[in-house]
Amino acid sequence: MTEAVLLVGGQGTRLRPLTVNTPKPMLPVAGVPFTVHQITRARDAGVRRIVLATSYRAEVFAEFIEDADLGIEVVIATEEEPLGTGGAIRHALAHLESGPDDPVLIFNGDVLSGLDISGLVEAHVRSGSDVTLYLTPVDDPRAYGLVPIDADGRVQAFLEKPSTPEEIITDLINAGCYVFKRSVIEQIPTGRVVSVERETFPGLLASGAQVRGVVDEGYWLDLGTPLAFVQGSKDLVLGHAPSPAVIQTGDSLILSGSHIADSACVEGGSSIGRDVVIEADANIDGSVVFDRAVIEQGAQVVGSIIGVGARIGAGCELHGVVVGDGAVIGARNELRDGARVWPDIELPPTAIRYSTDS
Ligand code: GTP
Repeated sequence: MTEAVLLVGGQGTRLRPLTVNTPKPMLPVAGVPFTVHQITRARDAGVRRIVLATSYRAEVFAEFIEDADLGIEVVIATEEEPLGTGGAIRHALAHLESGPDDPVLIFNGDVLSGLDISGLVEAHVRSGSDVTLYLTPVDDPRAYGLVPIDADGRVQAFLEKPSTPEEIITDLINAGCYVFKRSVIEQIPTGRVVSVERETFPGLLASGAQVRGVVDEGYWLDLGTPLAFVQGSKDLVLGHAPSPAVIQTGDSLILSGSHIADSACVEGGSSIGRDVVIEADANIDGSVVFDRAVIEQGAQVVGSIIGVGARIGAGCELHGVVVGDGAVIGARNELRDGARVWPDIELPPTAIRYSTDS
């Protein structure tokens, strides 16, 4: 039996204001909380017990897990103060049942991937490594710490984000899933903040531990930013990203209780939550609309995320924006490119729309 720890205690600052009320892994993606995609993928790969390492808004996870039937035992370990990624793994150790040499899978709570999870565990066990990391190649490695490996897959270094072209010596990055030999987790210090990426992994290398990388070139996305969140949701709805928890794939996903006017258009992998109203001639393209939101007549919502109970006024144009829960965007407003509206803010209607009318 393989056990896993799912790291879900971060504040999700890059996704604010959506994460003001809801922790990032509990935000709905293609109809279910993101964490459900990860838990069910792990379950289908043979993981039978999963520890949710929570901290920020831990109560949201507890309420959900109490009622959920995911076909896998889920245990919650809550840090009183956030302990960082490494500290969270160490804290979760008390909840693990595996033996000292058994593999323990660790997942970052915001990664959507097509990783062959059981293949990663098998590679770890076969090689007798202390830690085995899932590595993925990226087109532009400048935004990531790099993880070069040798021909045998042994990790040679954990490098900070490169600042010059010469420092880009590989396109491989830590893809946010790794396997620890359980006894290695015991070496992480207790009771203080530890970063697994900045402290534990480099420390293990320096002490001569066997740290390996397994490269998987399949689907990979970190859903940490609004743009990536929308992309991940679209990919799941359109069937480009794998998850056993997607209810149905197609051009859009519309949950029960929502009312879409006949002349409205919902397309491009958009996901519409429960009890949403979309009025006549509105167009929702490649977007995520959370429960109980209202999109009024003729509004255009493209590549955007609309929070729970938010209202988008008639004739608005929204491109690449995030609207917080309960916010009201008055008629004819135009918002673009990274704009974020905080929960419950009310923007008054504008008299005219400036875009194409002038
Ligand atoms: P940003 O604030 O937007 O960077 O997002 P984040 O809080 O999720 O941070 P980051 O993406 O760096 O975290 C990687 C993973 O570790 C995420 O799944 C987080 O939920 C999780 N995580 C980060 N810090 C902690 C912590 O202190 N405790 C626990 N349990 N999990 C954490």
